[in-house]
Amino acid sequence: MTEQRAGILSIGSYVPERVVTNDDMSKIVDTSDEWIFQRTGIRERRFAREDEYTSDMALEATKVALERAEMKPTDIDYILVATASPDNTFPNTACWVQQGLQMGDIPSLDISTACAGFVYAIELAAALVNTDTYKNVLVIGAEKLSSITNFSDRSSCILFADGAGAAVVTRTDGNGRIVCTRNGARYDYDALNVAAGGTRLPASHETVEKNMHTIALKGRTVYKFAVQKFMEMAQEACSRADITPDDVALVVPHQANINIIESAMKRVGIEMDRVLINLDRYGNTSSASIPIAMDEALAEGRIKRGDYVLFEAFGGGLSWGYNLVKW
Ligand SMILES: CC(C)(COP(=O)(O)OP(=O)(O)OC[C@H]1O[C@@H](n2cnc3c(N)ncnc32)[C@H](O)[C@@H]1OP(=O)(O)O)[C@@H](O)C(=O)NCCC(=O)NCCS
Repeated sequence: MTEQRAGILSIGSYVPERVVTNDDMSKIVDTSDEWIFQRTGIRERRFAREDEYTSDMALEATKVALERAEMKPTDIDYILVATASPDNTFPNTACWVQQGLQMGDIPSLDISTACAGFVYAIELAAALVNTDTYKNVLVIGAEKLSSITNFSDRSSCILFADGAGAAVVTRTDGNGRIVCTRNGARYDYDALNVAAGGTRLPASHETVEKNMHTIALKGRTVYKFAVQKFMEMAQEACSRADITPDDVALVVPHQANINIIESAMKRVGIEMDRVLINLDRYGNTSSASIPIAMDEALAEGRIKRGDYVLFEAFGGGLSWGYNLVKW
């Protein structure tokens, strides 16, 4: 009999209705479809309604994931929400999800590792399940980045978008098994930050006037770091699982920039037809990007049972991580 280990039982996702094209962005800042597409691969993205919050999108993705897992909300015994754009500082977004689906008084935790949030959450969920601490862990990546984007900075506002994805992690006989996983972080404030709103710089008229509650980034620094990390993580995951990059059926990377992904995959020796790309339609949805992309890969039949699928992500912190899954 196969030993039961933590695995991903189901995935669900949600993106808001409103499509914002590069031409729409060029009405806000001095840019063009050509510049954005060439430098990032993005054609359009989705922005949530003003009254649609991170937890609302998380709830929609969760309903799909639960239905596919054939579970009721009360079957879940732990909620992990990865987000850089929570509904509130507290209650955390996981608590909003808990009450939204009447899931009972279960532990509800937000994870703050920016775009690497989902791979962090999967690693923690696997540990909780493998140690029999909890049985069915709901893992969510959800973001309303449009609410923390600086729409006067043309080099960053063209990147970010809104959406949510959810996964149910539980013990499985083999399907969806989380084979190996690793996370990491190294302090670098200047590369990526939201300066104000915390104790270092509480909200004031000045912080609002100077747009300091929005994402600031050093694009080139993040770009170089990301290429290197994507390459190292793919090599490390394969080596730990005793497989080669040729054995990976599909890479589902954080959808930040097509050029980052292409350049890293070329160095690892993984052709782009084994890499899921949907950033052309959804932009960078931070911690939501991997589950949204994975949901799409499954819907398109790009993954068969037994395939190795690699998630990898990087984000503010700087933070990074991967999960290798045997679907
Ligand atoms: C942000 C990013 C797209 C910028 O691309 P880049 O090639 O590094 O561009 P640069 O910032 O060096 O700017 C090059 C020129 O384009 C201009 N430019 C920047 N944004 C522009 C835009 N949206 N439209 C037109 N021109 C733009 C700059 O002003 C600069 O002009 P200059 O040469 O006259 O000074 C790219 O660095 C990137 O994707 N980095 C990773 C960021 C990321 O993924 N962050 C999220 C992490 S999870």
